[in-house]
Amino acid sequence: MTNWEQHEQEAAQAIASAATSDALEEVRVRYLGRKSELALALREVRDRESGMLLNGIRQRLETALAEREQRLADEELDRRLREEVIDVTLPGEELPVGHLHPITQVRRMVEDAFLGLGYEVRDDREVETVEYNFDKLAFLPTHSARSPRDTFFFDDTHVLRTETSPSQIHILEEKAPPIYMVSIGRVYRRDAITATRYPIFHQFEGLAVDKGLTLADLKGTLLHVMRQLYGPDRRVRFRTHYFPFTEPSIEPDVSCGICGGAGCRTCKFSGWIEMGGAGMVDPQVFLNVGLDPEEWSGFAFGCGLERTAQLRHDIPDIRALWEGDLRVLRQF
Ligand code: PHE
Repeated sequence: MTNWEQHEQEAAQAIASAATSDALEEVRVRYLGRKSELALALREVRDRESGMLLNGIRQRLETALAEREQRLADEELDRRLREEVIDVTLPGEELPVGHLHPITQVRRMVEDAFLGLGYEVRDDREVETVEYNFDKLAFLPTHSARSPRDTFFFDDTHVLRTETSPSQIHILEEKAPPIYMVSIGRVYRRDAITATRYPIFHQFEGLAVDKGLTLADLKGTLLHVMRQLYGPDRRVRFRTHYFPFTEPSIEPDVSCGICGGAGCRTCKFSGWIEMGGAGMVDPQVFLNVGLDPEEWSGFAFGCGLERTAQLRHDIPDIRALWEGDLRVLRQF
């Protein structure tokens, strides 16, 4: 074998065994580059025979190099197609998405229902004075709610509000009627924690003050709101009751959605579910805020949000709404 045959064989082998495009480029520079043995020899060629020999070597090596290059590119493409394939049929990675607490959901539904009736939505203080929580709402000095056994007192004049009704006084003092407002927020009572009671809970409080309002307006309003909250086939009924700041006072019931009014465990076989308290604004309340009860009339109502959430979702134990257990809350 001549030196050149040996050289060609060596170069062909290097080309064949170059495993990457980078390695192949190195081989090309070494055997076919401007300073390669072959290139230098070609430059020195004087006779036709050695010119043909060396050009032949160069052509064969260039062909082999091009083939190898193509081969490596194909392999690279194959590899990428294999490795980077995306199976669009695989399930995606699940991102945890939260949702609003059931009480917040109900709160927003209540807001929507009343905004639809043209009511303004209010949010008042939770630390309230005895004056606004009791006195101006015409609670008698002997009313049991004034006792520190029922109510959280900070001192003689400050309490955690026991109801959202002080909002009635605040708005009546702030602006002249007509007034249509709903106040939503937390209230506090000294109750032991049980399945049906919790010392913190939420109420929504409605107040309408205008000329010539009657119990029929109260009933129509509550009927509309109960149907928004619980469904279009609900009915509302009134039972007489007593509250210091309404006269007459009533307790509204909504027909049971589980049995449709026929009687079941949820409604204790009465067909009706208690919704809270309501009534026509007591003349004494108007006097307490400087309005003439001969000129103005009004109705008010208060309902618990927890109760609303429980009824909507059939949640038997109120504690579930305060424990923050995701296994429970995720269901709503
Ligand atoms: N504040 C009363 C309660 O918490 C409910 C109520 C509100 C009654 C407005 C009448 C009018 O029991």
